[in-house]
Amino acid sequence: MELLYPVENDIDRAVEILKKGGIVAFPTETVYGIGCDAFNEKAVERLYEIKKRSRDKPLIVGVGSFEEIYEIAEVNEVAEILIKEFFPGSLTLVLKNKKIPSIVTANSQKVAVRMPSHEIPLKLIRKLGRPVVVPSANISGRPSPTKFEHVLSDFGESIDAIIIGECQIGIESTILDVTVSPPKLLRPGAVSTEALKKFVDLEVGEDTFGQYEISAEVLVFTGRGVEEEIKKFLAKRKNAVVIAKKNIYGERVIEVGETLESYAMNFFDALRKAESMGAEVILVEGIEEKGIGEAIMHRLYRCARNVIRV
Ligand code: TXA
Ligand code: MG
Repeated sequence: MELLYPVENDIDRAVEILKKGGIVAFPTETVYGIGCDAFNEKAVERLYEIKKRSRDKPLIVGVGSFEEIYEIAEVNEVAEILIKEFFPGSLTLVLKNKKIPSIVTANSQKVAVRMPSHEIPLKLIRKLGRPVVVPSANISGRPSPTKFEHVLSDFGESIDAIIIGECQIGIESTILDVTVSPPKLLRPGAVSTEALKKFVDLEVGEDTFGQYEISAEVLVFTGRGVEEEIKKFLAKRKNAVVIAKKNIYGERVIEVGETLESYAMNFFDALRKAESMGAEVILVEGIEEKGIGEAIMHRLYRCARNVIRV
């Protein structure tokens, strides 16, 4: 496994690895991704294997240019509007597939396409000259990685390289299926539902997201009485760690910051940190479900044993 840096020589090295069918992890503006050539079926096979990902869960395909989208998928009117508005960036569109191998789409006739805005994946895809799959760089079921250390701890030597760099948002892309009318929101994410609704009338799809596997019991608190309730819990439970906007609780507290943006950037990391502190229970201060807060709470609900509204 090679550790690479965001410099031209190392990007070229990563492209060489991808050309040979290797697997490389890299930061994107949302979370860390792990990729290989989308047309190399053997490499994709190995990626499913390494991620311990079920074969019926398709992979997002990352593209480096607008032409590439039209080459691999059918772009309808709604897609065209959204591509113009949100690409490159953190919106993934589900489109009719034209030529992406069925192993990538899990035998679906549709393909999920995204053009990252982060310069590292953009350079990788453009220099390779082919689309690259861009799933999150975690073992299936684990919280998404936002730092290269998370990738290292999930995969160690089993992948070929990691490019060290920074993510900017901290939560995965929004996924919208535009092959149906009205378009269906499959996953809330970095692009808020409000922002999308300015351009399309969408419907919220059925939630097929599984629970995350966290080595502690996660309790999420929302409402006006959060502070008081967390303090009561702390008095009872010794081996607890609190994830809070700011520390008003004592020692075993991880701060994620008070803005929606800092919360988004820090909460996946905070969950992993709390685990490594040996927490038996993780008490999480929720955040208001507006803007990116909607996606943050969506993920927290999938970590939580219980949501406590106070
Ligand atoms: O921000 C992101 O999207 C990150 C970065 C690294 O690109 N990637 C990411 O990938 O979150 P992943 O694999 O963790 O989540 C992709 C989701 C899965 O829930 C998968 O089922 C869905 O996208 N998906 C992929 N292809 C699809 C398709 N053809 N139809 C419907 N859903 C699809
Ligand atoms: Mg994921």
